Amino acid sequence: MKNVLEVEGLRVEYRGRSIVDGVGFSLKPGESLGLAGESGCGKTTTALALMKLLPDGLSQKGSIELTPEGAEEPIRIGKRTEAGMQVVRWRHISLVFQGAMNSLDPVKKIDLQIDEVIRLHEKGCSSKEVKERIADLLTTVGLTPKLGSRYPHQLSGGQRQRVMIALALACRPSVVIADEPTTALDVVMQAQVLELLEQLRRDLGLAMILISHDLAVLVETCDRIAVMYAGRIVETGTIEDVFTNPQHPYTKRLLDSLPVIGGTRGLAPPIPGGPPDPGNPPEGCAFGPRCPYATERCLTVPELREVGSGHAAACHFSPWSSWPEVEAAGLGVRK
Ligand SMILES: Nc1ncnc2c1ncn2[C@@H]1O[C@H](COP(=O)(O)OP(=O)(O)OP(=O)(O)O)[C@@H](O)[C@H]1O
Ligand SMILES: [Mg+2]
Repeated sequence: MKNVLEVEGLRVEYRGRSIVDGVGFSLKPGESLGLAGESGCGKTTTALALMKLLPDGLSQKGSIELTPEGAEEPIRIGKRTEAGMQVVRWRHISLVFQGAMNSLDPVKKIDLQIDEVIRLHEKGCSSKEVKERIADLLTTVGLTPKLGSRYPHQLSGGQRQRVMIALALACRPSVVIADEPTTALDVVMQAQVLELLEQLRRDLGLAMILISHDLAVLVETCDRIAVMYAGRIVETGTIEDVFTNPQHPYTKRLLDSLPVIGGTRGLAPPIPGGPPDPGNPPEGCAFGPRCPYATERCLTVPELREVGSGHAAACHFSPWSSWPEVEAAGLGVRK
């Protein structure tokens, strides 16, 4: 099966510094990729670059190729102008923005907001058709079509998040990116929205990129995962490979911090230090200063290398056959 999305060497710069550096991945129709990593590592910036929606001051390079089903030639997003992107965005690739449920237009009824998106992209649609589509979309995301006649403030947070997903689906795109779609919801609503995304992927054959800092969310909904650190992918593979056999010390620490049901009570120790300042990155491996296993060798940047079939990590010492328990006291060479 052809890849619906191929990204290579994606780089985003702000005043000459890279915020996203050399990100690459591919996605097949119906597949879902999780993008993980702590706050500030470049997840949202990557999503915005895929849509060519970066704010002023940020520039992007690299190849982004989208091949919707049935298309002969890929759409080269990386090379498109703004005018060229307007026929691609929402129609072929769409994004549920981080914090999106608060970004609906407060003075327009839900129906009208969906109506505008459909008509913008499908000029030939009759009013009757659009009306039916809106009712279908609301039903698809688990809302009664009647809710379409309400204003955003008359809906709950979970309902508004569902409306945002309906908007992202309105023009039947091939790829949907959802940036922290459940972070602002309570746990019950979180589970429902995740179940909805999973069901849409199955039923509509959507390819999906799900962004979350919460690994527990990704494990339930994704086939593969890419873990980002300081703007780079440091590990990628199937959920099973990465969760059962992590090959980067950062992934290992992230997994150690997940609560285990029935495990001992109390919080796992946090990863010491904080992510690097993009304006003043450390020499070599960006995780080096926080890594308990770092040595002199880590003063050169490790490339992302295959460590198993479809499993890659950017660590000089991978593949790791076991994880020595190094005490925080001896935090590497660059303490
Ligand atoms: N408009 C901007 N101008 C300058 N720097 C920016 C801009 N937007 C983001 N950044 C920087 O880019 C880096 C990545 O930010 P991004 O929002 O992509 O992180 P994230 O992984 O989505 O984090 P979170 O989990 O908090 O949403 C951060 O260091 C941030 O300060
Ligand atoms: Mg973000």
